[in-house]
Amino acid sequence: MGKLHIRASAAFGISLVAALGLSTAVPAAGAERAGPPGSTNYPSIVGHRGSAGLSPENTVAGFEQARDLGADLFEVDVQLSSDGEIFLFHDATGARTTNVAEVFPERAGDPITSFTSAELSLLDAGSYFGPSFAGEPIPDLRDAALVTTPKTGINIEIKSPENSPGVEAKLAEALGEKRYWQRLIARDQLVVSSFDEASLRAFHDLMPHIPVLLISSVPDDAALASLSQWADGLVTNYRLLDPADVARVQATGLTLDVYTVNSVEAMTEMTVLGVDSIITDFPGVLSALQRGVDPLPENNGIEVSTVVADPPGNDVQPENGEYVLLTNTGSAPVDVSGYVLQDAVINRLVVGSGYVLSPGGQLRVYTGPGTNTADRFYNNRTTAVLNNNGDSIAVFSPEGRFVDLYAY
Ligand code: G3P
Ligand code: MG
Repeated sequence: MGKLHIRASAAFGISLVAALGLSTAVPAAGAERAGPPGSTNYPSIVGHRGSAGLSPENTVAGFEQARDLGADLFEVDVQLSSDGEIFLFHDATGARTTNVAEVFPERAGDPITSFTSAELSLLDAGSYFGPSFAGEPIPDLRDAALVTTPKTGINIEIKSPENSPGVEAKLAEALGEKRYWQRLIARDQLVVSSFDEASLRAFHDLMPHIPVLLISSVPDDAALASLSQWADGLVTNYRLLDPADVARVQATGLTLDVYTVNSVEAMTEMTVLGVDSIITDFPGVLSALQRGVDPLPENNGIEVSTVVADPPGNDVQPENGEYVLLTNTGSAPVDVSGYVLQDAVINRLVVGSGYVLSPGGQLRVYTGPGTNTADRFYNNRTTAVLNNNGDSIAVFSPEGRFVDLYAY
């Protein structure tokens, strides 16, 4: 059974000042956030795969958006093409985020690393997110570097290095040869991360002056002590973080970053715990929270109250499968027809026409099939979309108004 979750109301905003019990060490409401990472009580803001909740992941459009929304760093994933060129891409295949099925119909399920850089340049990595991003290409490292500024650096994740043999040396070579990388390194605006400890260590041995972060669950004290001998930080899944482990990690001298934090409530909780960086698909929400302004200014009272992602039985069984519960917490009726409920990998459920929620009114939006009623709408999908182990839901109006953000 999915967790029932009573949330703080995003519509009323949440004050980090209050949550942190601070009055002077943080900027006043509406002020610019003071200073670079480390100079305030706030964690650094890392835009996950760019700004993956609002624009296509690992694209220049997303990096620019993360920068413009106030990210301190944007995160990218690097892999190697079959002809040995670094490209920025997360998944193991192009199926989810590109038009590979149209361009290379025979190879749609092939490893993305089996394509040459020339072949990769033929793919559209934007249309999956929406037509306004059509034609957005798969970028390379230089494309990402050109988006950085003195305020916005980059976190380069070595993704699945087993599929990209030699990627560590290629990355070290690329970062060593261009002045723009030297500038970022000198300003402490470049970090390299990986889930793969051996790969991260290999990169570190080649470029020991670049900070490296291991992405992992928090290990025992002995392993942390050993890691702290060569790495700079640990990146961990916030849902699995024991609050006591924040101090345990930081006591070794390692920084602690958390991913992928996609709600105001979880951002606040992680800030209060004192993590060093928060990786999020919605850097603008975190930036607003840190500046003391409404993190969801377009909210109109419609909120996600609950997600039931793992009901008894099949998640997409007729009538009683997984669903998102929307509530109108405002004082006026809201027509939610056409509202879009988007998960973290950009599956979208859409509310059908004719649904107007009165104040206090609720609607269950199901993934699977069933009989539509006044308070239940079924999307008739055959595969589950709500991740049983935690996910996030961003709610948009048909006009693109960013109405709510919820994580479970
Ligand atoms: O940097 C943390 C995060 O990017 C790790 O997860 O799968 O999105 O690369 P993933
Ligand atoms: Mg990543």
